[in-house]
Amino acid sequence: MMLTMKINKMNLEHKNKSYMIDNVSCKEIANNFGTPCFVYSEEAISGSFKKIKDIFCTEKRDVYYSVKANSNLTILKLLLNLGSGFDIVSMGELDRVLKIGADPKKIVYSGVGKSEKDIERSIKIGIHCINVESIEELKRISMIASKLKINAPVAIRVNPNIDPGSHEYIATGLNSTKFGINLNNMMDAFSFAHTEDFINLIGIDYHIGSQIETLEPFIEAVTSVAKIIKQLKSNQIDLQLIDMGGGLGITYKNNNVPSIREYGEAINKAIKDNNLEDYNIILELGRSLVGNAGYLLTKVEYIKKDSEKNYVIVDAGMDNLIRPALYDAWHNISCINVNKDAEEILCDVVGPVCECADFLGKDRKLSVQQNDILVISSCGAYASSMSSNYNSRPRPAEIIIKKGQAVIISRKEEISDLYSREIII
Ligand code: LLP
Repeated sequence: MMLTMKINKMNLEHKNKSYMIDNVSCKEIANNFGTPCFVYSEEAISGSFKKIKDIFCTEKRDVYYSVKANSNLTILKLLLNLGSGFDIVSMGELDRVLKIGADPKKIVYSGVGKSEKDIERSIKIGIHCINVESIEELKRISMIASKLKINAPVAIRVNPNIDPGSHEYIATGLNSTKFGINLNNMMDAFSFAHTEDFINLIGIDYHIGSQIETLEPFIEAVTSVAKIIKQLKSNQIDLQLIDMGGGLGITYKNNNVPSIREYGEAINKAIKDNNLEDYNIILELGRSLVGNAGYLLTKVEYIKKDSEKNYVIVDAGMDNLIRPALYDAWHNISCINVNKDAEEILCDVVGPVCECADFLGKDRKLSVQQNDILVISSCGAYASSMSSNYNSRPRPAEIIIKKGQAVIISRKEEISDLYSREIII
């Protein structure tokens, strides 16, 4: 009899005694590509995008994928082919999306620290919109645009001071953060942008945070922005675009989050309730499109039993997945061992990096043996894209499961890649 069990409602299944991602065995992937490695499900990524597209996208409404979540070129291309635009925060991200053939008219550019060069380049390529995060930035854009004699399309990023209820490092819509222009100063910014010759004020933008697990903050933000738009109108400032940012959370553990469908429906309703239907609207989603489509496979090097604790030492570390160290994030860890005789132990799953913060999971119960493969879930977003070479460790390969085949989409770094830019004097 075939026994199938979905792990954490994701594409990982326990089938016929082995762990499979979209019907490809994790063990085979680990054997063929080595560990650690990232594995993504094409089906899961396109499935998430199609869901929000079906519910939300129209002539006037678009989803722009937030490149920072996972910037692998194959993933960007997949989303481009499905009709996505792109939300970027650096020239590196701009290069990536131009490389896969994205239309600059479907790229928005956010970030608090845009340099003169960054602004000049984005104006010259004809970007859809620069999301401006301060009056100082607005002045710089105006100066560059007048020098180039090209109108710069801008949206003012406001900071609506809404608590999204997420970890403090990813709650960006509060006045205590560096993001956006607060409600007290925003009128000055809008007035300045409205009157400058080479600034084309097209919209308003906000992004209140990430891993938001309820719908209320999203709705509150729409209502707050509708009020601002009214206030602007009474000052003869008319906008065409509202960029609502991203932030929809995903299931990591047993946290309940709204589905993409519920989120899309709630946003549609909030747009209608606030009479915003005439505006062009952009959503900048990252995590909810790719987060649960990715896994990190890692091998158990040692099981170290200490008097205080048991440590399962694996070959992936905080350099591959920094979320547990940085945000105290919880990722599901499953062991794909076939040997059911292994005793279950309470353990910390830790990497080889020389830091106490180098843990992937704490106080986990696992039946595990040396050389077993562990699968860490929800590693599609903010895992590979936040990885580093700390301890001079090469970045792992990335693999995508496409139509039942495991295909490499980023080769493992060579050690020599790590110092190829260095100069011995
Ligand atoms: N738009 C802007 C302006 C953003 O700053 C972000 C994320 C997004 C959109 C996409 O948000 P999402 O839909 O992915 O929540 N490294 C953290 C998350 C940082 C999010 C930064 N901004 C983590 O691993 O939880």
